[in-house]
Amino acid sequence: MAKRASTCFNFVADHLTMIVEPGMYKPMYAFLRIILGVPREGLIYEKRKRWPGTPRDASMTFAVSVGDVAKEKSIKLARTMLAIVQPTEPAAQTSHVRDMLSSHKAAAHWQHVALRTPDLVGFHKHAIAHGVNFITPLMEDKDEDLIQVFSGELFAAGMPPSGLFFEFVQRDVSPQLLTRIRKADRQAFFRDRTFLGLYGEKEREYQSGQITPIWDHELVARLMESWKKKEIWELSQGDLDDAARLMREYASSKTKMAVV
Ligand SMILES: [Fe+2]
Repeated sequence: MAKRASTCFNFVADHLTMIVEPGMYKPMYAFLRIILGVPREGLIYEKRKRWPGTPRDASMTFAVSVGDVAKEKSIKLARTMLAIVQPTEPAAQTSHVRDMLSSHKAAAHWQHVALRTPDLVGFHKHAIAHGVNFITPLMEDKDEDLIQVFSGELFAAGMPPSGLFFEFVQRDVSPQLLTRIRKADRQAFFRDRTFLGLYGEKEREYQSGQITPIWDHELVARLMESWKKKEIWELSQGDLDDAARLMREYASSKTKMAVV
């Protein structure tokens, strides 16, 4: 029998690269450091350039390391998957996938990045407490034995939504955890074929024109205001702590408003 190509080449995730508007550069730094909890030593590199005619260096790119596959409890998780989606709706019918492609004027674009954690419930709480918007509740995919949740899109104020968002997953979920989640949040938790659940949710967003941003524009504006005098290489732990507090205050005031 022919050896499978995947075992020959052994592709696992190396890195994923995202290009962002300047208005989302520092917010993404905040997202990675505060929401994903990347420590200072997780910042692998950061490149600067002084362009002719400009007074100071500009940060062109940075990269972070987000986890350690060696800490996974099972060897079967040490692999990478790629998923491909095409719009299949008839031409007369709307399709958010078609809209995402045409608004990018491109035949392809990365739609979401899925990051796996051993504590999705804890991460979900932490992210919500820091103002992160999700478009779905925690969902269970029985076929794949995972729980997952999808964030809002990267979305800079005054610009169209990017079409790019995050998925967060936990695999090898214990029956006890599933029972606990179901008990804790009977309303929000639903079992569905999650691809179709996500697909339907994105379709509703695109049809209504109300695209949920990963962070409210107001929160991003406050973050940018508080960090406006600093480049990312100048941001201290104190600045990150202040930003995290700003996020928590924003999230809790929003929750209060919703209750009132
Ligand atoms: Fe996915």
